[in-house]
Amino acid sequence: MAVRLRWPEPPPAVRRWLPEPGEPIAPPATSSKLHDDRIAARLGIALAVTFTVCFLTGLWSHVQQDPPTWLAIPARPAGLYRITQGVHVITGLAAIPLLLAKLWAVWPRFVQWPPFRTVREALWRAALLPLVGGSLFLLGTGTANIAGWYPWKFDFRKAHFAASWLTMGGLLIHVAAVAGITAAALRRSLKEDDATDGRLSRRGFLGVVGAAAGVVTVTTAGATVRPLRALSVLATRDPGSGPQGVPVNRSAADAGTRGVDLGAYRLRVEGRVATPLVLTYDEVLAMSTRTASLPITCVEGWSASADWRGVPLRDLLRRAGAEPGAEVVLSSLEQRGAYRTSKVGQDHAADADTLLATHLDGQPLDPDHGFPLRLIAPNRPGVLQTKWVTTVEVR
Ligand code: HEM
Repeated sequence: MAVRLRWPEPPPAVRRWLPEPGEPIAPPATSSKLHDDRIAARLGIALAVTFTVCFLTGLWSHVQQDPPTWLAIPARPAGLYRITQGVHVITGLAAIPLLLAKLWAVWPRFVQWPPFRTVREALWRAALLPLVGGSLFLLGTGTANIAGWYPWKFDFRKAHFAASWLTMGGLLIHVAAVAGITAAALRRSLKEDDATDGRLSRRGFLGVVGAAAGVVTVTTAGATVRPLRALSVLATRDPGSGPQGVPVNRSAADAGTRGVDLGAYRLRVEGRVATPLVLTYDEVLAMSTRTASLPITCVEGWSASADWRGVPLRDLLRRAGAEPGAEVVLSSLEQRGAYRTSKVGQDHAADADTLLATHLDGQPLDPDHGFPLRLIAPNRPGVLQTKWVTTVEVR
């Protein structure tokens, strides 16, 4: 049996802003019919779907960058990360108008009196804190991240990751608590009692919110969905811009790798190999090469395809006599930065299209794309496509 809690009556000055005890969702604090559980239910479902998609694609991005020991990241399909991370950012951005509309529809509930009447209600209302706080944090920091704006001191990935678990935990409790109300609200027609008196109807309101989500999607999705590129006026990146027509996040100037001295440059293949290799740039160029058409996909969601030419990593490993299945770590000429080195998993190391590329679309790599040598591999976040590669270490 539910434990009922007794609350003191608030002072009259506060009381007149609060709904009557037990009032559902349209308290006297507001007269609009849009603060209605039929609207809240429909927006809730849209948000639950977009957040679940965001969560799953976000988790995938997390394991692609930090794979647990029991999970081998596949090299195929080559465009998998392009799709998952594109979908992550597209659904995340589309969730912004949905969340704002939902918060507006239910705000009178936040000032309901008493705030809770049973322990059960207290618990599910407490779950609103991580749910609402976490949602605002995820959408805010996510949007700032893709805009390249980092006004905070914390590690974005760690904070975004932790907030996503808190938010999804809050969402789970919320869904369990409101499942009954939602089912009842969905059975009621939106048209019923929808006289507008010249104001926006329920269907009109949901139409406006749906259109806003659609506009956000169409004006940003072109960073991933090529045919929408011309409409992508709000996308933070045009996938056709940048040196050699491919965008760059970390430039050679930022990395301190401008003007590499080719006379001194060497590619080393070392570690657990039968024959360590030390190759000049010309010796790398003289090896047999392969061209692969692969996308470069940023964790920020944008992606761009190009033709890359270079030496397959597996040929280099074979030539050095590396044990098959050994762990491979690439290091860059850059001295600092979170992505100076990257691990290449077994599946990627064995894939013919995992290249140490020297050319992009038929031209030698621009310094910003990693001249003299960069990794390009199928199904891999851009931050792990190490540029300015100088060492291949077999562990
Ligand atoms: C406007 C909305 C959002 C945008 C633009 C966005 C953007 C991003 C970006 C750029 C990353 C990659 C970060 C990196 O690896 O450096 C990321 C990762 C992630 N996102 Fe979001 N996000 C949004 C909303 C959400 C939501 C709503 C959830 C969960 C419900 C979520 C869960 C995750 C998770 C779990 C990761 C992986 C974090 C990690 O690598 O540890 N995101 N997001």
